[in-house]
Amino acid sequence: MTILVSGATGFIGSVITRHLLDAGHAVRAMSRSIAQALPKSLDNEIGRRALAEGRLTFVQADVTRPDGLPGAVRGVEAVIQAVQFTGAPIEDPRRGLTYAAVDRDGTLNLLNALASVYGAPTAEPSSTRFPAGSPRFIYVSGITVSAEATEPWNRAKWQAEEAIRGSGLDWTLVRCCWAYGPRDTALNRILGYSDYLPFVPIFGRGDDLLTPVFIEDVGHLFTLIVGDAGRSGDKTFRLGGPDEVTLAAFIKLALETRGRRRPVLHIPKALGKLQGALMQYLPGRPLTPDAVDFLTQAGAVTEADRDHLTKHFPGFETTPLRVGLATYMPGTR
Ligand SMILES: NC(=O)c1ccc[n+]([C@@H]2O[C@H](COP(=O)([O-])OP(=O)(O)OC[C@H]3O[C@@H](n4cnc5c(N)ncnc54)[C@H](OP(=O)(O)O)[C@@H]3O)[C@@H](O)[C@H]2O)c1
Repeated sequence: MTILVSGATGFIGSVITRHLLDAGHAVRAMSRSIAQALPKSLDNEIGRRALAEGRLTFVQADVTRPDGLPGAVRGVEAVIQAVQFTGAPIEDPRRGLTYAAVDRDGTLNLLNALASVYGAPTAEPSSTRFPAGSPRFIYVSGITVSAEATEPWNRAKWQAEEAIRGSGLDWTLVRCCWAYGPRDTALNRILGYSDYLPFVPIFGRGDDLLTPVFIEDVGHLFTLIVGDAGRSGDKTFRLGGPDEVTLAAFIKLALETRGRRRPVLHIPKALGKLQGALMQYLPGRPLTPDAVDFLTQAGAVTEADRDHLTKHFPGFETTPLRVGLATYMPGTR
């Protein structure tokens, strides 16, 4: 099967791409810069072999620029949308780097491109009929996304989900918890403070519950979805890891696994938001109040979510936190 992965150079998209290639699929990897795409993320044994075999190809396109997208989606059997704007979760509206512009409108642009290439026109201008055999659309959504949630990232992703559900394509949504792995920016940035500080600062009490998921499990699930011959069509899955932990406990465990002992310093959330309110006007917008909200949100799956997944993918298991962290933390080697 040939799959377009939009966001193929990113943390999540590159691992999905590697798993798909390893399973024998062909991947068309989308990036805004083909020149950087391979060295950035896919320069591994599986990527190099697939490149030599012609199963890994690249397409240069930007989801915010609709003109380049029909060529990117033509001739594929599935589209996986895993794009994230540069600098997330810190939005920069003046540079078009927002959840609305990239997560939502970028997804809408991809759907429109699919409609222009595959869709049969209908009398209803707002709806498109897709003939059998049109590509499936699989979207990396977030665990906190719901109809009720009002934060900019949840609104934008909910609206993207709504557009996908109403698109007329065969769709699958994966609402993913915090994913951790060697190339993640969130956990690694927090742990990085331990390189030069005697403590690790976090905003808030850090007592909200999370079920972080190991990045390899994300790649594995997407490969199962692609290979399931449509059984996961028109379904939403919520993906998390097996361990329910607070943010503070997650960081403590990761520090221990890295071979570090550092206390976690709690910066009151209100103080963080005040800092964000001031720092959003500095060059590069190092922090915003919304980013503090994003970083302190809870996000956990339930037993019902796990059952829903294993009902569709019997035998699919997620990696215990200690095991996942130990695969790449230097302290354990
Ligand atoms: N990381 C997590 O823990 C997590 C958890 C739940 C959900 N998610 C969701 O998963 C998705 C991917 O997140 P990530 O952490 O993998 O992000 P990431 O590492 O920052 O990757 C971003 C990707 O998006 C691409 N991109 C950015 N702007 C683009 C544009 N305008 N047009 C085309 N491509 C563009 C980048 O490609 P180039 O720079 O090569 O163009 C890169 O491949 C996001 O939707 C995120 O909300 C992530």
